[in-house]
Amino acid sequence: MSTVRIQWPDGRNSEHAVGLDWLAAAKAAGVSIPTGCMGGSCGACEIEVNGTIVRACISTVPGSPSGELQVEFSSDPYW
Ligand code: FES
Repeated sequence: MSTVRIQWPDGRNSEHAVGLDWLAAAKAAGVSIPTGCMGGSCGACEIEVNGTIVRACISTVPGSPSGELQVEFSSDPYW
């Protein structure tokens, strides 16, 4: 099974299997991602993964050619 190293916004690193739910990966790393609807429509859970916005509640950890993913929390001022 392939894994990727995730660099979280607070400086933590963790390694997870490709295809794991983002929220599960965050929980395992001790990082909390805000959530709302849990169904992909509100956007509360948006994170930036290597510069691409994804909704964590409906997405899984993608593979990465470098074996690493850089996560940032979105900075939408409305939440
Ligand atoms: S929690 Fe609403 S889009 Fe993810």
